Amino acid sequence: MHPLPIARALALACIGFASAATQAAEVEVLHYWTSGGEAKSVAELKKIVAAKGVVWKDFAVAGGGGENAATALKARVISGNPPAAAQVKGPSIQEWGKEGVLANLDAVAAAEKWDALLPAAVAPIMKYKGSYVAAPVNVHRVNWLWVNPAVLKKAGATVPTNWDEFFAAADKIKAAGQIAIAHGGMPWQDATVFESVALGTGGAAFYRKALVELDQGTLTGPQMIKTFETLARIKTYIDRDAAGRDWNLATAMVINGRAGMQFMGDWAKGEFTAAGKKPGIDYLCLAVPGSEGAYTFNIDSMLMFKMKKPEDQQSQQVLASAIMSPDFQELFNLNKGSIPVRSGVNKTKFDSCAQKSMADLDASSKSGSLVPSLAHGMAVSSAAQGAMTDVIARFMNSNMSPKDAVTALAKAAKTR
Ligand code: BGC
Repeated sequence: MHPLPIARALALACIGFASAATQAAEVEVLHYWTSGGEAKSVAELKKIVAAKGVVWKDFAVAGGGGENAATALKARVISGNPPAAAQVKGPSIQEWGKEGVLANLDAVAAAEKWDALLPAAVAPIMKYKGSYVAAPVNVHRVNWLWVNPAVLKKAGATVPTNWDEFFAAADKIKAAGQIAIAHGGMPWQDATVFESVALGTGGAAFYRKALVELDQGTLTGPQMIKTFETLARIKTYIDRDAAGRDWNLATAMVINGRAGMQFMGDWAKGEFTAAGKKPGIDYLCLAVPGSEGAYTFNIDSMLMFKMKKPEDQQSQQVLASAIMSPDFQELFNLNKGSIPVRSGVNKTKFDSCAQKSMADLDASSKSGSLVPSLAHGMAVSSAAQGAMTDVIARFMNSNMSPKDAVTALAKAAKTR
């Protein structure tokens, strides 16, 4: 028998919650959505749960990529006081499942037919031992290059469609006295650039073998050397002040024309949108050179933790239901830069970048070039990801040779 009074929670979710409002039902949510575009997106979720009579207790931990949030979450769970929900994704969901601390969302998922609404590849990520423990929010694509066309034009550069053109454009932007590549020197941002370069230089099959299957021969092979060589070249176009810069500040450099291009997932589009910029006019979203048609996915989700009080369990079900609602998936993703993860959402309001993301997601899943993001916790265990990210960051911040880097990366990939 399910421990939660699900029927009641679902009824409340549907009828607007007069009774729960008087009890001041609450849901504490740990997340790292703190940039301008992210804050706008999360405000939509707060509004939806508020309309259902549940008070949102914000537990925001700043830090792109979520490393700080993950540390805060561990501390709370270890002390026996987990938040109701936390922004956790990919294989980490299984890691938390093994700890025996997760709630069960099967009743709400069955009532709302999540299995039928979610892509076949996504549902298993949200389950532990066959039961739903997390609600998926969106699909982010990571292999994007964000471009300010005015900066390129002023420098006499053309929009790049391959690596040669990319470096030619970067040279021109640099020669014109601008920053060619906006970047924040943080390990997760380094890893974000790295994985896009790996995909763009080696292709999806190489990416999968090296960065998902962690095949030792592929990790040390010529394509990985080439990846690091390309990364070394990219380093020379990043400004001196990049160390410690937040990703959204790097995006702001592209927005305001201080820099020409940025490698970043499409949460960057949330910043362009929040600044009132229009795709195709003020900025361009291009697949990273060499990765057209391939797709690195990053699916945000809210993982639910076991709650003692029945009213907290109910609020959790309300949150899960809200996250999967078509209204939320539309509004949230319009602001966030990502695309809806479930079917049945109105897609007409999504811009050209989102439409491209939707089409490429579809095409890449058919052609076999859809791969999980390493840098964003979708591909390997958190331990291996952390160790590999450290190597990439060391490479970005030293004179380490590509040959030494591949050896170190392959060793880090063995971390359990
Ligand atoms: C998350 C995004 C978030 C980005 C920057 C990614 O790992 O999936 O939701 O916007 O990090 O913090």
